[in-house]
This record gives sequence, C-alpha cells and structure tokens, in this order.
Amino acid sequence: MASSVTALKERAAAAFRQTFGRAPDIIVAAPGRVNLIGEHTDYNGGYVLPVAIDRQIVIAASPRDDRKVKIGSLDMASEAEFALDSIARATQQTWSNYQRGVALMLQQAGHTLGGVDAVITGDVPIGAGLSSSAAVEVATAYMFQQLYHLNLSRVELALLCQRAENEFVGMRCGIMDQFISSLGKSQHALLIDCRSLDYELVPVPAGASIVVCDTKVQRGLVDSEYNARRQECEMGARLLGVRALRDVTPEMFERRARELPETTRRRCRHVVYENQRVMESVAALRRGDLAAFGQLMYDSHASLRDDYQVSCRSLDIMVEAARQAPGVYGARMTGAGFGGCTVNLVNAAKAEDFRREVAAAYAAATGITPPVYVCLAEDGARVIG
Ligand code: GLA
Repeated sequence: MASSVTALKERAAAAFRQTFGRAPDIIVAAPGRVNLIGEHTDYNGGYVLPVAIDRQIVIAASPRDDRKVKIGSLDMASEAEFALDSIARATQQTWSNYQRGVALMLQQAGHTLGGVDAVITGDVPIGAGLSSSAAVEVATAYMFQQLYHLNLSRVELALLCQRAENEFVGMRCGIMDQFISSLGKSQHALLIDCRSLDYELVPVPAGASIVVCDTKVQRGLVDSEYNARRQECEMGARLLGVRALRDVTPEMFERRARELPETTRRRCRHVVYENQRVMESVAALRRGDLAAFGQLMYDSHASLRDDYQVSCRSLDIMVEAARQAPGVYGARMTGAGFGGCTVNLVNAAKAEDFRREVAAAYAAATGITPPVYVCLAEDGARVIG
C-alpha cells in the first residue's frame, strides 16, 4: 500500500477513535482522477481515457443502531449530522451535501441503509480539477455498500453518485469522474464508452510517468460555462439530426459543418475530433508509441483552447512550459477547464527534471509556484482497513 494511503488511514482511524470512543469497523478509500484524453466528450455519449490516481478520499466508519448519519470532516474541521428519513440540502456544512445526496439516491434506488458514524479525510486537492467531489461521492456510496451489504455493481454505484451530483448537488457533470473513481485499475487507464458504459483497460507503459501540474487558478466560471457548453452541444446534435455528437463522424461533420452557426460549429468540431483522438491515442499507447500519444495530447489542448474555448492563460502557459521541459511527450489541460491542472506524459527517467523545470518556468511567467504531482494509476474504491 502506498505510504500516503497508510498515513490517511491512520489519521482517519485516530480521529474516529477520538470522536466516537471506539475503533471504526471499516476504512474505505476512493481515488481522484486525471483524464489523459477525451475532454468534454462524456456528456456527448463519447469516449474518455481517465486514470484513477494515488490521491484519495478516505472514510473510517461504523454502523449505528438508529437512522442517523454523523460525519466529521478532518479537512473542513467541521461535523455534520442528518437523518436518513428526511434528507435535505444543507445550507451550512455544505461539504456534507455529497454524503446527503448519495444516501438519498441509494435509498431512492431501493437500497436499505442504516445509520453511520464516520470520519472523512483525504489528499485529493480540492477545486483543482482532480475530482475530489466524485471521490467523496464514491467513497460514501462504497462505505454504505460495505456496511450494509448493498447489492450494487460498480457501474451502478458510479451512476448513482453521478445522479447525486446532478440532482442533489446541482452540477450537470457527465459520468467520467464517478466511473473511474469506482472502476479504476492500478497501472491502467480506462477507455470508457460513455454511452454503453463498456470499458477496456489500457496499460500505462512502464517507461512513462503521468505528471499533473496545478496552475493554482481557481476554476471560477466553470459551472455556468460547463452548462453553456452542454447546451451548445445539444443544439449541435439537434441541428445535425443525431441523438448525441458521439454519432457524428468527421466525414459527416465536414459535409454538414456549413449548416451550423459559428459557435456551435466550433464546439461540435472539438467533440467530433476529440472522440477520434481518443481512439487514435489508445492505438498509440497499445503499440508503445508515446510520441504519437503526446502529439494527440497537444492537439487536444489546442482544440479545447481554440474551438471549445475552455482553457485560460494559466493553463496555456503551463502547457507551453511543459513543451520546453525535458522528457515530455505531450501536455494538455485536463478536466472541465478554466483553471485547475494540466496532465503531462513524461519519460519516467526524466520525471524529476521535468517537474523542476516546468515549475520554474511557470513560476517565472506567473509568480506562482505550482504543485506538481508525479501520479501512479491506482485501483478504484476499495477497503483499506
Ligand atoms: C468535469 C465533469 C466530467 C467531464 C469533464 C470534462 O470533470 O465532471 O463529467 O465532463 O469535466 O471532460
């Protein structure tokens, strides 16, 4: 077990003992994620290629005899309590809306839950675009599943967590983040078909490191712009007469592009070619062609910047800093955009040099020293104690 998980586990267990005066029955973990390629394709029924990373949300928990849920958050230094039979959105301790939403959706889907004492902590940076919220949702659902023996597949678990985020928290995200946090595999990326929810494991080549660079720019506009992009894609699908942009091939797009208004055309062009890039990048990874994979990452970034228009100055600076750094195959923004992180594929032997140089170049350009993480591909939700 990686040392960071061990430390989180011990921290959660100690805090649980201190709060509830006994040892927890169970400790679960669910990872954050980074998406290698396939951005803003999930809600268009398309393809994505994320990796679960070695940064997690950890929950120590025990059942209670009544129907209450009591949770202490170490990172928020706050406690929340709710009753399973009257779940409403919190206006204080809003961090607990993820747990409330998951408990509600599990029950609405017919699962029988009981009360819980819990302590939550983690080391997924919050608000950096590494899906700390999906990890909280998946860890919560997995905790209930383990404590109350729920009959729930990992795909169903991911879908219920997405529903909690869409309907209870109020963010219209796609399925990618919850899916990879539930189904991730160590040393692998997952190629997910976001329409059928079929997936394939794609090994991360041994000589390559996945490096995440945090711009430290808060993703302010993200909710409103995210929803606006979704609407533009839905309009594009309507105008092209398809169920979702996933159904548009590059040939069909080129034939019909002139029928679309300018902005819609750009959004559609990104999605259509991004889906194609995902398939090409998986083929490149499978044949060990890291240079080809890296070029597709740069192409993805350019498309997100120019056509989808969800990048920002800091993300563009970080990608350009990476391009000049040693050992890099490719770099791009990752996640929803407007700040957050870039993902980089780097020659493993040069990962430390890369980390140092990219951080120095970004700091010189912006005055901000960026956290840079060399990430391992981890397993999805699991019991760790
Ligand atoms: C966020 C959403 C995902 C996905 C990405 C963009 O992370 O939660 O569902 O749409 O943005 O690829």
